[in-house]
Amino acid sequence: MQISVIGCGYLGAVHAASMAKVGHDVVAVDVDPERIAALSRGEAPFFEPELPETLAAATATGRIRFTTDMSEVAGARVHFIAVGTPQGADGAADLRYVDAAFTELTRYVRPGDLVVGKSTVPVGTAARLAAELTAAVPGAVLVWNPEFLREGFAVQDTIAPDRLVYGVPGGDAGAPDEEAGAHAVAVLDEVYAGAIAAGTPRLVVGHATAELVKVSANAFLATKISFINAMAEIAEVTGADVTALADAIGLDARIGRKFLNAGLGFGGGCLPKDIRAFRARSVELGLPHTLDFLDDVDAINLRRRDRAVEAATELLGGSVVGKRIAVLGLAFKPNSDDVRDSPALDIAIRLHDAGAEVLAFDPEANETSRRVRPTLTYVGSAREALAAADVVLVLTEWQEFRDLDPFEVASVVTDRVVLDGRNCLDPVAWRDAGFTYRGMGR
Ligand code: UDX
Repeated sequence: MQISVIGCGYLGAVHAASMAKVGHDVVAVDVDPERIAALSRGEAPFFEPELPETLAAATATGRIRFTTDMSEVAGARVHFIAVGTPQGADGAADLRYVDAAFTELTRYVRPGDLVVGKSTVPVGTAARLAAELTAAVPGAVLVWNPEFLREGFAVQDTIAPDRLVYGVPGGDAGAPDEEAGAHAVAVLDEVYAGAIAAGTPRLVVGHATAELVKVSANAFLATKISFINAMAEIAEVTGADVTALADAIGLDARIGRKFLNAGLGFGGGCLPKDIRAFRARSVELGLPHTLDFLDDVDAINLRRRDRAVEAATELLGGSVVGKRIAVLGLAFKPNSDDVRDSPALDIAIRLHDAGAEVLAFDPEANETSRRVRPTLTYVGSAREALAAADVVLVLTEWQEFRDLDPFEVASVVTDRVVLDGRNCLDPVAWRDAGFTYRGMGR
């Protein structure tokens, strides 16, 4: 099938490469010429496992091309919108890129084509765009097909998702336009034929439900993380161990152990901005209190960073000034070079600004960090960061940090003190090597 993908960021680049990999002909468009040049050379513009191989395989088949010229989408039957929806000044989602991409795209859409939104948008956006599309190109159909990919697993999550959600006209009970909805379902089933054949559940709903599935899933995940981090606060004052607590409550199948890791909380390009945008949207919808709890979810999450800075300061005897701090990890999570709203980078910067000598290392995120925070000192290995350190902070749970041998670390640091911001180390092993070990809520 002829497909276009508008936007080549984390979402669009992965979607475009994955769609080509499963056999479609893809044209991918972005306004950034450097990004397009890199992708055309087969280079991934950011770190994402499996993306370089997927891109190379797709490029070798000749089934994918990258361009800055929107007119090249003409001829595609399905047009995916995968541009960013950053946080605006008031917390609400900023839709300027979605609107600009949509307006430009509609010039090349033909009757019968699908325009498929993948970006995370406030509920109500799809209905507005659907009306605009029908006015501009009668017979074209607007679908909302949210994306649930996790960075670090993006290619797998795209090719073999745990569910497909189609928000189509007529999908919600009582809505008109069943014919357009049926057409959209048939075409999308062709796009995702491989995943459907493999048994992926596919849910057909209306526009509003599809938009809400995405934001409510992220709100739920954020709430789960903040719940366990609130328990970490309680564990800290009672001497309980939040990790053991999570293991115990997680064995209740109704609760589940996933997303119950206490530590520095959530960051990244999705959860923080999505809960704020959802909250702002509920207020616009005339429901000022319905999502009040998301303010708490946000506040608990941000308090973890304060707590980590406080704990590091305590471990250094009350002042960080002139102290040498090894920061291991800057990305918002392992297997990513993404530092958007990263708790790790935030904590490193706060300690640096407070007068500490911070030596930071991340296996993939040194460069992305340097771009936004050039004043921090970045080193090329964990060993360099650890040399002569007064305290060690593990802020992103990369496997290489989990695998550190505490005895080896002990031989290079000045003081044997470790703050395990992600509760990813074995406290017994580190204590056996002579370390003062401090976790988050344990
Ligand atoms: C998230 C959603 O998982 C994904 O479905 C959606 O499409 C985009 O947003 P992502 O941002 O890639 O994906 O990261 P995710 O794996 O969800 O982690 C988010 C943050 O939560 C990270 O900072 C991570 O460190 C933190 N986290 C996760 C915890 O603090 N504890 C946990 O138990 C799990």
